[in-house]
Amino acid sequence: MKTAITEMFGIEHPIIQGGMHFVGFAEMAAAVSNAGGLGIITGLTQGTPEKLATEISRCKDMTDKPFGVNLTFLPSLTPPDYPGLVKAIIDGGVKAVETAGRNPAQVLPALKDAGIKVIHKCTSVRHSLKAQEIGCDAVSVDGFECGGHPGEDDVPNFILLPRAADELEIPFVSSGGMADGRSLVASLAMGAAGMNMGTRFIATKEAPVHENVKQAIVAASELDTRLVMRPLRNTERVMTNEAVERLLEKERKLGADLKFEDIISEVAGVYPRIMMEGDMDAGAWSCGMVAGLIHDIPTCRELIDRIMQEAHDIIARLDRLQAS
Ligand SMILES: Cc1cc2nc3c(=O)[nH]c(=O)nc-3n(C[C@H](O)[C@H](O)[C@H](O)COP(=O)(O)O)c2cc1C
Repeated sequence: MKTAITEMFGIEHPIIQGGMHFVGFAEMAAAVSNAGGLGIITGLTQGTPEKLATEISRCKDMTDKPFGVNLTFLPSLTPPDYPGLVKAIIDGGVKAVETAGRNPAQVLPALKDAGIKVIHKCTSVRHSLKAQEIGCDAVSVDGFECGGHPGEDDVPNFILLPRAADELEIPFVSSGGMADGRSLVASLAMGAAGMNMGTRFIATKEAPVHENVKQAIVAASELDTRLVMRPLRNTERVMTNEAVERLLEKERKLGADLKFEDIISEVAGVYPRIMMEGDMDAGAWSCGMVAGLIHDIPTCRELIDRIMQEAHDIIARLDRLQAS
């Protein structure tokens, strides 16, 4: 299947693995890229330019296919060394970058000069148009269903994707709630040139996370995520657990007085304990509603091959419908 996205990134299938904190290590990215998608290393999990350079080089040892790096721009008292991370990406010969969070204008000139394709992840049409205006090559349109940060507009993909298609000139992929061949065909029908998946890729054999995380996703239904940090306008969709219910109780109690310091024990620095040690109640971790569609732990190749086969079968069925 050839689309503007497969052509732009030099990949076989129009499927991208979104950056994921403490999941997007070289093993994850290489497995997705080797299966014909675009795997992505999460830059901020590495934190320093030196560590990111090592991770890029490890990924190159595991795949000769294209892969990308995610750069997330978060409000922070001690911002990461973004220029250094960009240099590590360029020096590492990476050809794709997924930006997310705030406007990526500060890193665009250096990335573009190096011939790197930039796909910016955003949760609204207005931010997508801004990304197009500042020179991003593509957009990842992240609906309200998504795991992680869905923004504050709460527009699900059945509305957001056709709205993006009506307004954008650059190609875009769907993101949030995507799991299978049905997701891919629906995304194409709504104007996307491919799809981005987060949660689905965690429940794969190669995802370098504790088995408990994979089992938690398989066991969860579409009703098991919660929105946290809404009062701070930093909404995150997470899997519910003891820590999340405690956090939500604080939000209810403190209302508009809630400060980040009040919930620090539930959200700060919890990812290594959850993803590496499998301590599933250690804190809040991003997870999409799509958990309700995830019932197994295939290899990345099995997953991507199955998605593509399903997509082709659906398209053939629709074709027959039209012919009859
Ligand atoms: C555990 C986890 C961690 C994530 N970390 C990041 C991150 O660090 N940066 C980022 O841009 N997106 C992050 N995301 C969002 C994903 O890249 C992707 O946009 C999202 O998962 C899509 O929704 P889905 O989970 O329904 O597929 C994360 C998602 C998950 C599930």
